[in-house]
Amino acid sequence: MKVLVVGGGGREHAICWKLAQSPKAEKIYCAPGNAGIESVAECVDTGAEDIEGICAFAAEKAIDLAVIGPEVPLAMGIVDELEKRGVKTFGPNRKCSQLEASKSFTKAFLGRHNIPTAGYREFTDKDELMASVGIYGYPMVLKADGLAAGKGVVIAENEADAKAAIEEMMGEKVFGSAGDKVVVEEFLTGVEASMLCFVDENSIVPMESAQDYKRVFDGDKGPNTGGMGTYSPSLLFTPELEEQIRTRILEPTLKGFQEDGLDFKGVLFIGLMLTDEGPKVIEFNNRFGDPETQSVLPRLESDLLDIFVAVTENRLADVEMKWSDDKAVCVVAASGGYPGSYEKNKVIGGLDKVDDDVIVFHAGTAKKNTAELGCAGSGKPGCTGEPHMATVTSGGRVLGVTALGKTHEEAKAKAYDNIKRIRFEGMQYRTDIGTINRR
Ligand code: AMP
Ligand code: GLY
Repeated sequence: MKVLVVGGGGREHAICWKLAQSPKAEKIYCAPGNAGIESVAECVDTGAEDIEGICAFAAEKAIDLAVIGPEVPLAMGIVDELEKRGVKTFGPNRKCSQLEASKSFTKAFLGRHNIPTAGYREFTDKDELMASVGIYGYPMVLKADGLAAGKGVVIAENEADAKAAIEEMMGEKVFGSAGDKVVVEEFLTGVEASMLCFVDENSIVPMESAQDYKRVFDGDKGPNTGGMGTYSPSLLFTPELEEQIRTRILEPTLKGFQEDGLDFKGVLFIGLMLTDEGPKVIEFNNRFGDPETQSVLPRLESDLLDIFVAVTENRLADVEMKWSDDKAVCVVAASGGYPGSYEKNKVIGGLDKVDDDVIVFHAGTAKKNTAELGCAGSGKPGCTGEPHMATVTSGGRVLGVTALGKTHEEAKAKAYDNIKRIRFEGMQYRTDIGTINRR
C-alpha cells in the first residue's frame, strides 16, 4: 500500500516509524515531514494545512491510505476532501472534528449523553461574561471555544486575572474567532491522565494508557506547553479505574456518537481528571496526542497499518491488538525560551551517540548546510569539520527521546542517560518525566 501521513511533528515521526515496520507498507510519504521523518518516509514539500496541495498529491501518487496527524487540517475538513476524491483516510471528518474544534459542541455532547464532566456555561457576550465573573468561584476556568494551539484555556486565580483573561479573549481577540464564544467551567481537582482510543462506527478500543507532562518546568511549574514528555503505561491506572472509564465514559461516548449520527473514524484522545467522584472528561481531542504517541506506539506489537485500514472500513472489532509489557518513557528536548519565543537553526549534536535501541523522534528539526549557517569549523557540537548538511532546530519542541525497559525505572534511566548525549544551544528538558507529581 502507498500511505501518506499528513503532519511534521514528533507524533507523525512515531506514526511513520511504526508504519514503516508493516510489510504491507510499500511506500510511505509524509507531508511536510521533518529531518527525522526522512529516515522512514519520503518527505513531501506540502504543508499540512494545504488541503488542495495534499489532495492533488494523493491523486497524483494514487495513495491507498491517508493518515492525518494534526487537529487543524482535520477541523478544516481534509478528510471530507480526500474521501470525496476516493482516498481512504484515517481521521474524523469535519463534522466529528468539532469534538476538538469546539469546546461548546463537546460540552453539549457530554451533557446530552450523561458523561461525567465539569459543569459549565457558555458566553458570546463580553459584558455578560464580565458580570458573571467568578460564577463557580475561584480558580475560574475560562476556555476559548475554538482551536487555539493548546493555549486557549486560562485558569484564573482571582477576579482581576479572570477579567484580564476575558478582555484578552473577547475584547482583544488574542485567539481570533476562537474566542467569539467562551466556555466557563467548574474547577475540577484531581490528577490528570490521558486515554487514546481507536474508534470506528461500531467500536471504541482504548490503547495502552499514557501520562503527559504539560508544564514546561520540573514539578509541574511554569506555563503550559504542547507536552514535555510522557510515559506509558500510566502508573495511575488500576483495573477498577479502567472499568469505570469503560462503563461511564467510553461506552456512553460510542453510543452518543451513534445516536447523534457522528460517524467518527480515527483516534479519540480523552483528557481526564481523576477526581474523588471518579474520572471526568476535561476535553476531547480528535487525533493522536503529541507526545503521548511517542511512548504508546513503540509498545504496540500489532501492525499499525492493519489497524488504520480496519478503522476506515469499520472493522476495528476484528483486529487483534497486542501490546508489549515493556514500559516506555519519552523525554522532550525543547528550544530555550519555549513555550514563549525561541531561536531556530541551532545545530543538534550527539544524535549519533544515542543507543541503537533508543528512538529519537524528531519534532521541530530541519536540515541546513553548516556553511550557510556560518558555523562550519566553529567547533560547536554537530558543526565541526568541512561544511555539511546538519540537523538543526526549527521549532519549539525539537525532539523526543523514547526508551523502553522491562521496568518503568529502567526505561526512565535509559531515556535520561541518552538525552544527555544530545546537545544544542539553549536545549531544555524536564528532569522529572516519569515521576508522579501529585498536586
Ligand atoms: P484543555 O485544553 O481543555 O485540556 O485544558 C488545558 C488544561 O487546563 C488541562 O490539561 C487542565 O490542566 C486544565 N483544565 C481544563 N479544564 C479544567 C477544569 N474544569 N478544572 C481544572 N482544570 C482544568
Ligand atoms: N499532549 C497533548 C496533546 O497532544 O494535545
